[in-house]
Amino acid sequence: MSPSGPPLEAREPLEIDPGLWSPDDLYHLHSSLIVPRPIAWVSTVSSAGLHNLAPHSYFNAICDDPPLVMFCVEGEKHTYINCLAGGEFVVNLVPLHLAKEMELTAVNMPETESEFRWAGLEPVPSRVVAPVRVKGAKACLECSLERTFDVGKRNHVIFGRVVHYFIDCSVWRKGRVDPELLGPLARLGGRYCEIGDIFKQSRPSWREVQTAANGDTLDLVVQSRSFREEAS
Ligand SMILES: Cc1cc2nc3c(=O)[nH]c(=O)nc-3n(C[C@H](O)[C@H](O)[C@H](O)COP(=O)(O)O)c2cc1C
Repeated sequence: MSPSGPPLEAREPLEIDPGLWSPDDLYHLHSSLIVPRPIAWVSTVSSAGLHNLAPHSYFNAICDDPPLVMFCVEGEKHTYINCLAGGEFVVNLVPLHLAKEMELTAVNMPETESEFRWAGLEPVPSRVVAPVRVKGAKACLECSLERTFDVGKRNHVIFGRVVHYFIDCSVWRKGRVDPELLGPLARLGGRYCEIGDIFKQSRPSWREVQTAANGDTLDLVVQSRSFREEAS
C-alpha cells in the first residue's frame, strides 16, 4: 500500500486523485470498479505458426456498424506480438465450465509453448482467420486487426473488426443470443462471476416522461420485470 493509498476501511466517502496512488493500488481500484467485465479469451498465431491463447478482461465491444471490439495488453506479451505480426485474432467468450482452463492459459509460458496443449484445450479451425477457436466456447469472434493505439508506458489497445461470428446453436433462442444460455464468465477485480438475475425495463418516450405524474414518475413510466419470469 502506498502512503496515500487505500485505507483499510472507509468511514466517509473516498475522493481519490489517481496520481497519488501507486500503480498497484490503482490497478486494484480500477479493475474492481468497472465490473463485471467479459473476458476475451484471445487466440492468436505466432509467425512460427504456434497457436497462442490468453485471457484479457480489459475488453469490450465498441460499436456494431462496423462490428468492432477492443482489448488492452499490458506489455509486450505474445498476444500483442502475434496480433501485430499476423493481423488477426479470435475472441472466444469463456464458458463457465472452462474457467480453470482459462486460468491456466494466463500463465506466462515460453513462446515455444502453446497454452492449448498445456490446458488440454482442443483448437478448432476458424472459418475466415488463421488463429483458431477454442472447442467448447459458445461464441467466437473472428477478427482482423483494425488498428492499435499505445497508451501510457506499457499498454497497447488493440482494435479488431469482427469478420465472422461463430454462435453455438445451444445459446440461440427466439432469434437472438440468449445471454443466460451463453453464460459467459466475467471478471470482478481479482474474482469472477457468472450472469445473475436478468430483468427488462421499458424505455419511455420524452412525451411520457413529461406527462407522468410528479413524485411517482419513475415507477409510472419505467416498468421493470424479471426476464426469467417472462421467458418461462
Ligand atoms: C481473467 C484474466 C484477465 C486478464 N486480463 C488481462 C488484460 O486485460 N490485459 C493483459 O495484458 N493481461 C491480462 N491478463 C494476464 C494475461 O492473460 C497473461 O499475462 C498472459 O500470460 C498473457 O499471455 P501471452 O504472453 O501469451 O499473450 C489477464 C489474466 C486473467 C486470468
